[in-house]
Amino acid sequence: MGINDVAASGFGAGADAYEQGRPGYADDVVAWLVEHLGIERGATVIDLAAGTGKLTRMLMRPGVEILAVEPVEAMRAKLAQTCPGVRTFDGTAERLPFEDASVDAVTVAQAFHWFDPGPALAEIARVLKPDGRLGIVFNERDTREPWVADLSRLIRWDERERWRVPYTVEVDWAATVAEHGPQFEAAERYDSAFHQAMDPDTLVARVLSTSYIAMLPAADREELAAKVRELAAPLGDRFDLPYVTVAYAARLR
Ligand SMILES: C[S@@+](CC[C@H](N)C(=O)[O-])C[C@H]1O[C@@H](n2cnc3c(N)ncnc32)[C@H](O)[C@@H]1O
Repeated sequence: MGINDVAASGFGAGADAYEQGRPGYADDVVAWLVEHLGIERGATVIDLAAGTGKLTRMLMRPGVEILAVEPVEAMRAKLAQTCPGVRTFDGTAERLPFEDASVDAVTVAQAFHWFDPGPALAEIARVLKPDGRLGIVFNERDTREPWVADLSRLIRWDERERWRVPYTVEVDWAATVAEHGPQFEAAERYDSAFHQAMDPDTLVARVLSTSYIAMLPAADREELAAKVRELAAPLGDRFDLPYVTVAYAARLR
């Protein structure tokens, strides 16, 4: 099964911008996931839709085997550089290249919106061992900060459906798991917040790494980059981009 066209072209074209511009995950969120997913010595963990390895590198610890699954070759190539020693696999959430009951946990960072939820949850449940866990995590820009709200308007995030990006910010992923994943117990949730240290170049890279923007013609991307620089000008050379993070952990029934 293939993946959404916008994801394939956008992330294929934007792997470098993605690595430069996207934030990682706050330490408290990673610690919560590690604890609630039972990621400890001896565990095997799939980081699914691993991208350039933003979460993968934070899960790496002695005695834990991480298997990174990512369908876009350019993202996998980047991950091989950022996470040396992690085995990478071409695969999708709906079709994982692993045996039944073979892993202890599956993590999905900033990616569940791309999946077909029923088939993906069934496939994740198939590869999990009894008592296996699923972790989902999302960072969102905190639009309570006025310039961040302006930025979201500028990149027409609220019009993204026009680009066929299947995503809404206020999704309750615990409800999605409950609706489409009868294999799982009710998910637990953890909310957090953090700031990404920014400069104008990184902010531009962050915007250009957005899937539906990475696939625009070069002239449109340049125009948008100029507008982002204009918006960020009053913020100076160094500023913070605020995010809120929501993480979920669900146990196999
Ligand atoms: C926004 S990136 C997140 C990458 C990484 N997990 C992170 O935290 O930065 C979304 C990733 O999902 C991948 N993706 C899209 N559809 C997928 C699918 N059906 N199965 C697995 N991965 C998929 C894309 O190729 C992309 O690398």
